Order: sequence, then structure tokens, then C-alpha cells
Amino acid sequence: MCGIVGYVGPKKAVPILVHGLKRLEYRGYDSAGLVALDRSGARRFRVVGRVQNLDTELFGQDLPMTSGIAHTRWATHGKPTENNAHPHTDSSNQFFVVHNGIIENHDKLRLQLEADGVVFQSETDTEVLSHLLAKFYDGVLEHAVEKTLHLVEGTFGIAAVTTHEPFKIVVARRGSPIVLGLGNKEMFVASDVSALVQYTDQVIYLEDNEMAVLTPDEYAIRTLDNRPISRKTFQIDWKIEDSDLTDFPHYMLKEIYEQPQTVENAMRGRVLQAEGVSKLGGLQAKIDEIKKLRKLILVSCGTSYHAGMVGRYIFEQLTDLNVEVELASEFRYRKLRLDETTGVLALSQSGETIDTLAAIREARRKGAITLGLVNVVGSTIARETDAGVYCHAGPEIGVASTKIFVSQLVILNLIALLIGRYQSVSLSEGMALLKELQELPNLIQKILAQAPLIEDIARKYHKAQSFLFLGRQMHYPVALEGALKLKEISYIHAEGYAAGEMKHGPISLIDEAFPTVALVPRDATYDKMVNNIQEIMARSGPVIAIANEGDRSIGDLVDDVIYVPRTHELLQPILSVVPLQLLAYYAALLLGREIDKPRNLAKSVTVE
Ligand code: F6R
Repeated sequence: MCGIVGYVGPKKAVPILVHGLKRLEYRGYDSAGLVALDRSGARRFRVVGRVQNLDTELFGQDLPMTSGIAHTRWATHGKPTENNAHPHTDSSNQFFVVHNGIIENHDKLRLQLEADGVVFQSETDTEVLSHLLAKFYDGVLEHAVEKTLHLVEGTFGIAAVTTHEPFKIVVARRGSPIVLGLGNKEMFVASDVSALVQYTDQVIYLEDNEMAVLTPDEYAIRTLDNRPISRKTFQIDWKIEDSDLTDFPHYMLKEIYEQPQTVENAMRGRVLQAEGVSKLGGLQAKIDEIKKLRKLILVSCGTSYHAGMVGRYIFEQLTDLNVEVELASEFRYRKLRLDETTGVLALSQSGETIDTLAAIREARRKGAITLGLVNVVGSTIARETDAGVYCHAGPEIGVASTKIFVSQLVILNLIALLIGRYQSVSLSEGMALLKELQELPNLIQKILAQAPLIEDIARKYHKAQSFLFLGRQMHYPVALEGALKLKEISYIHAEGYAAGEMKHGPISLIDEAFPTVALVPRDATYDKMVNNIQEIMARSGPVIAIANEGDRSIGDLVDDVIYVPRTHELLQPILSVVPLQLLAYYAALLLGREIDKPRNLAKSVTVE
């Protein structure tokens, strides 16, 4: 979704702003713009489409300005046009603002401003902010920002500048992330740390209803009610190399291939093999409350929701908890009866997904213990939960989530084992699970080595209009995840289904042009899955099976088979999902799709 970058310091601002926008491209956007300032005034540039178009527009321009703000816009109010692109300005071109989020009462504010004679230049909700800044300006930009935001309903992360005070940036947040980057006599700001890692590893996250005033030498944080705040600095643990493509053609492929390492990172320092238990420092502060939990609700969206669905089976197997799993966007609107014996565990790569964040806030309001399983260190969900565990998987840049799904599954096993060992899980059960967990990196390598075979299978089927993905039990969410991966990057229609539901409707779709991907591991559901496969084949439907190594009989039955090594039952989904990620990748590649930036999608969904 939308991205914000800002810079004030001794260097030329424009290259830093453009570079920052490029680092945010993965989030998804459809137009871009920037404004740069010095004592002589401001220069604004806006383009439809890629940041590269902004580069073209800027080529050959002499732009010595040392401060500015920039934005990538993911259209919500108004089409992606140059006029709707940020920064927006007031009628005198002296106040500029970039904004992430949605101003819910913009219609009302717009009517009031129009009644005062203001002429609007865009269809956006954001433009009201620039006119309000001009209206309230009394010589101090932060006063105008404060007054403006008191009128605003909705969500915002904003950065504002004015030609009257060219070496000052004022930022504020409610619901949309803002991170300050602290340099040596220079200050940066962004909506996402990836725009900052090249310049500094010292960052500060603003909380909701806070603003910050940045000048080259200092920053000051205060609430929107004007109370000064002192906030601790975070050290970012990513390096710039982590977000480089290296030799891979796409981030998605790079991240699929990183998965052996991702699993190691998720386990590092967390496995006490001899005691058959895990050690999770981030949960330690709340361990007494966690031990008393009777119920756990896993909340998340998209791929993280599928991880949560697998998590339900893991927690049911390893703990005595009653376990529920729910889409965060549904959970937050339910009539909930929660108390301190309920834990609500939010799963989120970004730690900023607005529905997941809102679910956690609702759970906390109602007295539940809130826990987070998050990748981005210092993100809002990580900060707002009572306790949590980080994936430590480095940045995930491909819009289609891959390595974080695998990381979440590993850590769900570790959390469930930690709780389960206080309950009925025995030492030997714990040791057996951990032993197999540590084998996973090698086993994933074996699957990655089959990429050429998976590419051939993708070549055979990529022209199909629709795909069905089937699985049972823990492999039902894996089927959902396989279908999600395929549809989001290849745009082939794909549905995931619990195989037992086949006969209740979807079987009517089966014909020779409708391939099914069947997840058929050697577990308790094996025979039933084989029956489902027979039913599909009897109706001439092509079947691609994901089966365990050595399962010759499946190989003889279906059209195509991808073998994955066998592991502990609770870990099998970690292996089964890898060929599905590669299948989606190669199908999208063969169809010429823009794999890392699929149309209409954003990496971090910060609006409801
Ligand atoms: C799909 C995908 C999305 C995210 C979802 C939640 O490949 O990436 O479905 O999983 O938007 O995002 P996080 O995990 O950041 O809360």
C-alpha cells in the first residue's frame, strides 16, 4: 500500500527520496511523487505508474534542495492520475502533505473548505489536509498539523512540509505506521524501515496519536495533545544486502530458496533438545499467564491466516487448550466473551495489517492476553501485544508471502511445544518433534532441487483457466495456501477445498480441462484422499499429487506427482507447501506476470 519517505539534512534530498521510494515499491502502488524544498521555494514532481517514471521526469534537473517528502500511492479515493498523486498542496503551493490511510470525514471537510472559497485539484481524501494546514498556519508548522489532525476522523500516517520553514518535516500517525530514522545531523522518515536501512540502523516508531518534528539536528516527539514524549531507539537487525535480489530474477524465488535458512533462523537459540522443549524469550515475561490459558484464538489475514489454520491442528495436538482460528477481519466484529484465560495470538508478517491490529486491540480491551508472531521487528503488532515471538526471517519483499508462512509454522510448533510440555507432552515426544524440526532445512533443499520438474509441470498446465487444490486436516489450509499463491501471482482462478467437501458441490466442475492439485501425505487421511483422487480421475480431471517419497502407488495413479520427504506429521505442511509455491511461481513466469508486484495487491494492508 502507500509509502512515505522524507529527508532533511545536509545532502541533496531528491536522490534519497527516490531511492527510498524504490525500496518501498514492493508494497504495491500505482503513482508516485515528491516535493523538495529550500529557501527559494519548492519543486513538486508527480507521475502515474512506476517510480522509474519519476526518475525519467527528474533526469537532467538541477535539484540542490536538502529536504523533502515523497510518496507512492495505492489508489483508494480517485483513480491513479497525476492530479491524485501525492504530495498534495494548498492553493498557494506553500504547504505539502503526503498521507497513508483514509480520512473518513473528508467529504464534510471538503464542503466546509469549498464554502470558504478553496478550489480542489484532486479527487483524493488527502487534499483536505494541505488546505487545512494553510488555513491554520500561524508561523509554526506543527501547530497547523496539530489543529488539522484534531478535525480529522479516520487513519493517517502523514508527513507535511512548508516553504515557510523549508528545513523542517512534521509527521504524525494514527493507524498507519511512521518510523523516524536518526542520522548524523540528518533525519529520515518512512512508513517502513526498508526505506531507511541504507542510511541508518537507529529508528524510532511513532505510536498512534503522536507527532514528531524533524530538523537536521534534532527530533521532538509529542502527542497530538501536545504532551512531550521520550521514546526508545530501536536498532534494525536487517542489512541492506538482505533486501537485494542477488542473482535471483525475482524476490519471490529468492525467498522460496531462502527457506532452509528461514527455518534455521526461526529455531536459532530456541531449541532445548535434551529437555524436549523450546525456549522463547519473548514469551517469558508472560509465561505465568500463558500457563493458565484455557483457550487460544489465532487471528490473522491471508497467508498468515492459513498458517493460523495449520496452527490450530498443532495446538490441538500438543496442548490441552481449546483452539479457535479466525480471520482477523471477522473476529473484530464478533460479540466476544474473553477474559484472562483466553490468549489471542496474532500472526502477521508485516506487523501492520490493520484488521489484525484491530483484532488485538479488541481482544485486549476485553481482557484477553494478547500474543504476537510477527516478522517485522518493532512493528505495531509487535509493540502492542503483551508478549510475542519474532520470525527473524529478514525482509520479505515479494508481495506473495512464502518464507514467512514456513517460518510461522515452525514457530507455532515451538510455541505449542513450550505450552504442551507444561501439560501432557512427554519428554520423548518433545525430543522427537525437535529432532525432526532440525532436519527440515536439508529436506527443504531436496524439494528445491526438484524445481526443474515443477517448472515442467507448470508448463504443462499453465494455460488452464482454473485449478482446484485439495487437502484434508492440516493439509486443507495448505491447499488454501497453494490456491492463494497461484491466483495472486498468475491470475489463474484457483480454489482450495477440504477434500471431504468435494462431493458436496465442487465435483461438478471437474472435466479434462480442470486440473486438481491433491495433497496426499502418508497420514491418517491418506486412504480418503486416494478415494477423492479416484473420483476426480473417473471424471477425466487431471491430477497433480504432492505425495511422500516412496509412494509408488500414487505415482502410478495420477498424471503428475511431486514427491516431498516424509517428516513428523505436525511438520509435514512445512514441506508440502514448498512445491506449491514453486508451481505458482513458474505458472506466473510462463504467463509473463509481474511476479513480485501482482496487480492490485499490496504487501502490507494498512486500510480496512
Ligand atoms: C499473500 C499475502 C497476504 C498476507 C496478508 C496478511 O501472499 O501475502 O495474504 O498474508 O495480507 O499480511 P501480514 O502477514 O503482514 O499480516
